[in-house]
Order: sequence, then structure tokens, then C-alpha cells
Amino acid sequence: MVETKKHSGSLEYIYIKNESASAKVALQGAHIFSYVRSGEDDLLWVSEVSDFEHKKAIRGGVPICWPWFGQDRSGEGRPQHGFARTSMFEFVSKDESDPYTTKITLKLKPSDETRKLWPYSFELMLHITVSDKLSMELSTTNLDERAFELTQALHTYFDVSDISNIQIKGLESKPYLDALSWDNKTQNGVITFAGEVDRVYQEVEGEISLIDNGKIISIKNDGSSSVVVWNPWIDKCRRMSAMKEDTYRGFVCIESANAFDDLILLKPGETHTLKAVIS
Ligand code: BG6
Repeated sequence: MVETKKHSGSLEYIYIKNESASAKVALQGAHIFSYVRSGEDDLLWVSEVSDFEHKKAIRGGVPICWPWFGQDRSGEGRPQHGFARTSMFEFVSKDESDPYTTKITLKLKPSDETRKLWPYSFELMLHITVSDKLSMELSTTNLDERAFELTQALHTYFDVSDISNIQIKGLESKPYLDALSWDNKTQNGVITFAGEVDRVYQEVEGEISLIDNGKIISIKNDGSSSVVVWNPWIDKCRRMSAMKEDTYRGFVCIESANAFDDLILLKPGETHTLKAVIS
């Protein structure tokens, strides 16, 4: 089943259900905000105080950070993490031919609004496959006459039992940029959490595992060599939109990215695909 529905907070979304799983994808931002495998809890976390309104990014799920990741470096006051997450995508196609697997595609095209923020012509497609895995393929094509640079992320918020319980494996010995101090560091052992973490891991290849009380979630990325690991902890949580004081306990972000040194240069006519598969 693939149906268009309206959230009580006014955003329209696509509801997908098949024999393996269900998912919800808002048309604004092509923002996946639920992915539930049959008989299991939601793998994605969404803040109970999140807005579901036009022009406000949903706090949780999988925001798409595009065409830049993080703060605007131009000094022109453009929005953090780009404009894709608050832009309206078109629902392009669906494929329900297999009862266990549903595929949908959403597209963002340039508009006067996007050109004001980023003066390029492009096509951005998100191909989502919902089965016993959640696959997301974010493809950018340069339709401009000039080359452009791209940084981006599939900024996945994973639901966890408690941030103190979890471990992240697969990034041991990787270099990272510590975005709290802007120092370059190297990961020593598995990642655990006892305070704010905001890191951009580099030179990443292979599988990453999120281990939570014996439950293991696997993340496999392609077209990317950077992974952002983030939890705001209590003080930052108090200052952030759509968060409550203790909200930080329930999630961790493991973001499949092309960020900092891992930026993409796209020449006219070229396409780059960032892929993440969660299972
Ligand atoms: C992460 C960044 O990717 O996103 C953090 O590394 C940032 O520094 C976080 O705080 C959330 O950003 P936003 O714009 O959704 O509040």
C-alpha cells in the first residue's frame, strides 16, 4: 500500500506498508519520519514536540542536509544544513510489484526560492526502498553549465533505549574532526556516550553497527567516506528547537555524509549518489 495522508500538524506524507515493514515520508524534505519492521518498534526517533509544519524541519527521522552540510560558510546567513529539508519534493513514482518490497522516488527541482540561496540548476532525487531493510539513495545531477560543490548528509536519528546504554562499532581507529573543539583526533575503541558528542569521522568504509542492549542495527554507506556522530546531551538540548530537556537520552544520530574534506565536485551533467542502507 502506498497512500498520501495528511499529518495533524499539516504536512502531507506518503504512508507505505508491505509484508515486511511500514514507513512514513513527508513530501516536505522527502523526510522519512517512521520506519517500522513488522512486529518491531520504530527504528527512527522523532521528538514528541517536533513541528510537522511547512518551512520547519521535522526534529527526528532522516532529514536531508543538502546542498551543504552544517553551518553556512558563505557568511550570508543561509540556513544550517541547506534548504532541502524544508523544500517541497514531488512524488515521482512507486513500485509495489513485490509484496515484501516497496520502492518510491521523490524529486526536488530548482525554484526561485532555491536559486536565491544557491544559484545552480540541479535535479535531486531520493529513491527509498522499504523492505526488511530501509534503503535511501540520494542522487544529485548537475544540470547547470558550471561545476558546483556539494556537502550533504542523510541525518538519521536512531531511536535508542538510553544513550548511556549504546555502543557504536566500525569507526575504531578512524580520524575525526571534533566539532566541539575543532581539533583533529583519532577514535580509540568503540564509541560510547557520557556527554555531548559532535564528530565528523573521515576515511570511513565498511559497515557501522549500533548496539543497544543486545539489539544490533547495521548501517552500510556508499558514495560517502564521512560519518557524523551526534548527541547534544542536556545543555545543548535545552537550547535547541523541538527538544525537551531530557530528549537527548532517546536518540543518537549516525549520519551518512559527504562532509568537510569529503566534499563532492560535480561537473555539468554529472551525477553523484549517496546511499545508506539500514537493517
Ligand atoms: C548535526 C551537527 O549534524 O546536526 C550538529 O553535527 C547540529 O552540530 C545537529 O547541532 C542538529 O542540527 P539542526 O540544524 O537540525 O538543529
